[in-house]
Amino acid sequence: MLAKELIQRIVSEANLAPSTHNTQPARWSFNDDSSILISADCSRFLPAGDPTNRDAGLSCGAALEGTIMALAEVGIKTSSVDDLWARNDCDAIKGHRLAAQINIKGEASALPLNTEISKRFTWRSKFLPCENTMTQALDKWASEKPDVTLATSTTDIDFLSQKNDMSSIHFMRDDAFRTELVDWMRLSTSHDNYAEDGLNLEALQMGALEGFGAKLVLGTSLFCVLDKLDVAKALIGEEAQTKSSSAIALFHRTQTESPIDTGRAFYRFWLEMTKLGFSAWPMAVVADNQESAAECMERFSIPKDHRLVNVLRVGNVGAKRPKTARLNAGRLVV
Ligand SMILES: Cc1cc2nc3c(=O)[nH]c(=O)nc-3n(C[C@H](O)[C@H](O)[C@H](O)COP(=O)(O)O)c2cc1C
Repeated sequence: MLAKELIQRIVSEANLAPSTHNTQPARWSFNDDSSILISADCSRFLPAGDPTNRDAGLSCGAALEGTIMALAEVGIKTSSVDDLWARNDCDAIKGHRLAAQINIKGEASALPLNTEISKRFTWRSKFLPCENTMTQALDKWASEKPDVTLATSTTDIDFLSQKNDMSSIHFMRDDAFRTELVDWMRLSTSHDNYAEDGLNLEALQMGALEGFGAKLVLGTSLFCVLDKLDVAKALIGEEAQTKSSSAIALFHRTQTESPIDTGRAFYRFWLEMTKLGFSAWPMAVVADNQESAAECMERFSIPKDHRLVNVLRVGNVGAKRPKTARLNAGRLVV
């Protein structure tokens, strides 16, 4: 059995993986020396935003990839992985859904993307202009990846900016979606879970006053009044920020792929952009809205057997980075 300190180090590192609304659904069980089970805490699922739990699976897949990297960092080799997601559902008693089993055997050394784990974060503001050499490297990288299509022209970025704002208002008009999102927002530093999970002021790049305003607008019926007055769309719109991106990356994977494998690939894709010096900000609503996803598939000639998984603004933010919240390792091991 691995020592407690080592287990805590591994899960803390693995849990730096991205997750929807920073729900961090992955949990780890270390039963013996040869395998690790990853399951999802179903109380952290998003019934309104993710009714099929696909994104919860994707978040667990990203955490699984994070675990393999964290194990390699401490010299432990992953010999194989069993994907358990499709064969299981939420356990009525424990409230967990089995996601994957990692089988460990032998020694390993750190993997090429290990260095990027602590550098990756979600940036939710304007981007800075970017050196040509950086964008050229991004173009070259994307051209070699069958699951990435890069939008770089002003017209394409404008198109995606419109799709993002249109899809955002579409989902925000759904009371259940909005309530669930606000529930995962930590819009005041006095929130009990401010430093642990969800989207806090720092992650959202908001000041205290903006946080108060956001709670008032999104968390009450004021949103519907403002929407009737036709101002809600402008209030939640992100046009200026989206248009400051150097590029927008459309991430697409085969339609039949398990959410676990998609999550693993998604995390690697994000870390690879980090390695090129870029930060990213997803616009999941563009992929989640069937209409805008279909338009993107057509416009960007995405292979028909692929599914648009996510669309990310990509750009340079210099040395800045927000401090994101994470659960204590003690809560991640079950
Ligand atoms: C499947 C998936 C979809 C996401 N979609 C969005 C999104 O639409 N907008 C956004 O701001 N962040 C999105 N994120 C980023 C998460 O909110 C972020 O990973 C989480 O808050 C943890 O913060 P970090 O990325 O800074 O570590 C998404 C993450 C995942 C895994």
